[in-house]
Amino acid sequence: MLLLLGLFVASTRADLEMNFYAKSCPKAEKIVLDYVNKHIPNAPSLAAALIRMHFHDCFVSTGNQTEKVAPPNQTVRGYDFIDRIKSLLEAECPGVVSCADIVSLVARDAIVATGGPFWRVPTGRRDGVISNASEDLAQIPAPFSNFSTLQTDFANKGLNLKDLVVLSGAHTIGISHCTAVNGFQNQVDYYWNPGGSLNNFFQEFAESMEKMGRIGVKTGSAGEIRKHCAVVNS
Ligand code: HEM
Repeated sequence: MLLLLGLFVASTRADLEMNFYAKSCPKAEKIVLDYVNKHIPNAPSLAAALIRMHFHDCFVSTGNQTEKVAPPNQTVRGYDFIDRIKSLLEAECPGVVSCADIVSLVARDAIVATGGPFWRVPTGRRDGVISNASEDLAQIPAPFSNFSTLQTDFANKGLNLKDLVVLSGAHTIGISHCTAVNGFQNQVDYYWNPGGSLNNFFQEFAESMEKMGRIGVKTGSAGEIRKHCAVVNS
């Protein structure tokens, strides 16, 4: 009986996989990549905005009008960029490619386009059907948190101290308002012994990014494929 139950659970639990859209929308990843390569060189600072959007998306769920007004997201840029790619993908294969996958792929491709590291992006995420500002405020790590609070925030998402330190390396690109980083970078510098080479860092960053991209994902028949990334389907 237990064995049967185990088999049942295994067969209903879908996982992310490389090239999930190979059959359902074969050009999907190429459409994303081409768009990024065409536009990011003209607006390289958007790469920072897009990886940050991916991080916030992993810690909660993506860009609804309500999510957008939560304080940690008010300074996230790049929503239009995602919307434009979403329209291209809707024209190619309506209702197939999730916004969560678009954000994940775009973040990677944009960082690569600006000379940063590559990481694997398995796909098959589905989009959230609920979205509210207070959920975002509660789950996205706050800039005034001390290091142990951040460690707890990350542990709650299955990420360890190494992931916290390595992923914080993403702050070497982009814009931060001074009120926001208040002491935080010092703590990171203290924990991160920069003895390793950039290559090692990129390797570890890639591993932690892939791990971050798996946090709490909805797959299979959970959630939905949003028609517009900014709103839950009506
Ligand atoms: C450890 C917890 C984290 C905290 C408390 C945090 C906090 C912040 C804050 C407060 C800002 C500045 C917002 C502003 O002033 O406009 C910021 C910017 C940024 N964050 Fe984080 N962050 C964290 C983790 C991450 C992670 C894991 C990534 C990516 C993997 C990331 C990527 C970025 C980027 C790229 C920017 C610059 C965005 C831009 O230029 O538009 N952050 N972060």
